[in-house]
Amino acid sequence: MRKINLAIFASGRGSNCENIINAIKNTAISNAEVGLIFSDKYSPNLIRIAAENNIPIIRQTKQMFASSEDYDRHIIKILTAHNIDMIILAGYLKILTRELTCKYANRILNIHPSLLPNFSGLYGLNVHKEVLKSKVEKTGCTVHIVTEQVDAGKILGQTIVEVESDDTPEVLAQRVLEQEHILYPRIIEEQIHEIFNENITSSN
Ligand code: GRF
Repeated sequence: MRKINLAIFASGRGSNCENIINAIKNTAISNAEVGLIFSDKYSPNLIRIAAENNIPIIRQTKQMFASSEDYDRHIIKILTAHNIDMIILAGYLKILTRELTCKYANRILNIHPSLLPNFSGLYGLNVHKEVLKSKVEKTGCTVHIVTEQVDAGKILGQTIVEVESDDTPEVLAQRVLEQEHILYPRIIEEQIHEIFNENITSSN
């Protein structure tokens, strides 16, 4: 059975990256492997995760490229060389250009720590700070398709997290992250079957 080859893009801590790799190991995500971890930043944690799981990691900053488009064209070459079928953004902070979003149309997923479209365009603790400021009672996380417009692609799944009156941004972020770790593997598994089902079954 052909395995769908995933590239995980991350910029920092890498908890979703590690969680997805573990979900493949314990078959919560079936018919997939992680063929590449790509990072635009230096992250000891991502290097550790890659080494422990025997996955190639490539770190390439944008600095030496004249434009974001050039940078993404370079990334496409890397992805092609690694036979990547699908891209999983897991805390990747660089915004993708049309080069990548068109080349991998409907095959790039992202997770955002809010109930999109609310609090789109923000990242990290800023999301949770704004959630608390706005006094909403519910927040959560969203998995969506990545398009050229930031945080605006089709929503594939959401989990609601109640906001508590004594929440700090850090405490709320942690509760949302726990739900991210449940939601993201589930949606990745669904999408792999949705997008690649024919390929997976035809090579049986
Ligand atoms: C997560 O909160 C995710 O929703 C957002 O970036 C954060 C990444 O965390 N896109 P980690 O690096 O996976 O631990």
